[in-house]
Amino acid sequence: MSALVSVAERLRKMVPAISVGVLSADLMAVGRDIDLLEKAGVKILHFDVMDGCFCPMITAGPALIKAVKTSLLKDVHLMVQDPLEKLEPFAAAGADMITVHVEACRHPHRVLQAIGQLSVAGEKDRRPLRGIALNPGTTLHVIEPLIDEVDMIFLLAVNPGWGGQKFIGSTQRRMEQLLQMIRESNRDVLVGIDGGITKDNIDAVAKMGADIIVTGSAIFDGKNILQNVQHFNKVIANGQSL
Ligand code: DX5
Ligand code: ZN
Repeated sequence: MSALVSVAERLRKMVPAISVGVLSADLMAVGRDIDLLEKAGVKILHFDVMDGCFCPMITAGPALIKAVKTSLLKDVHLMVQDPLEKLEPFAAAGADMITVHVEACRHPHRVLQAIGQLSVAGEKDRRPLRGIALNPGTTLHVIEPLIDEVDMIFLLAVNPGWGGQKFIGSTQRRMEQLLQMIRESNRDVLVGIDGGITKDNIDAVAKMGADIIVTGSAIFDGKNILQNVQHFNKVIANGQSL
């Protein structure tokens, strides 16, 4: 079995699942917080890479991704302008999932092809899953020419740049449209939603049909990671059964 199939299969067996934004952890004790996430049953770590050009903030790059030793899948969200020539170090650092913004790519189709050629952590047949992310203001029509090149599509429910922002309500309608597009395409594409997802709205978000629910500050809120993760997982499991 190729490593891509194993990552895709691992992910399919996990979803719907939360992908936890590691930059919302206590960065003075990030190893401790990741251990707590693992013990709580989290399966995916979300790394928000911001370059200060595509979005206002600057965060962290391949060094942080490489430094994190974990069995969890590394879900790398590149909020990076013109990512085409910047991809390889993220794969080498162990990114199992690499998502780029369609708004940041001069040639999004070529970027997705390039991601598909990368090796994860130097393992030649282990390919990262290819994701495309759309900001709240980007029409879903951009997906149409890319649908054959993606494994995942993420809808941002906030304008990228910070954790702790408010969920943008129109995301629900966009999620319905996106799921319809994927059904009509007959493609096996996983759907993610990212930003502004908290204990207050996870009940509604869990019913929107996303496979991957990205959440950061809500999981580390009140420093009770285990309780927060258990709450999110219970709601998602119930949401799925509806
Ligand atoms: C946009 C990022 C999100 C965000 C999530 O800024 O892509 O991952 O940080 O953080 P919360 O869950 O705190 O909104
Ligand atoms: Zn993100």
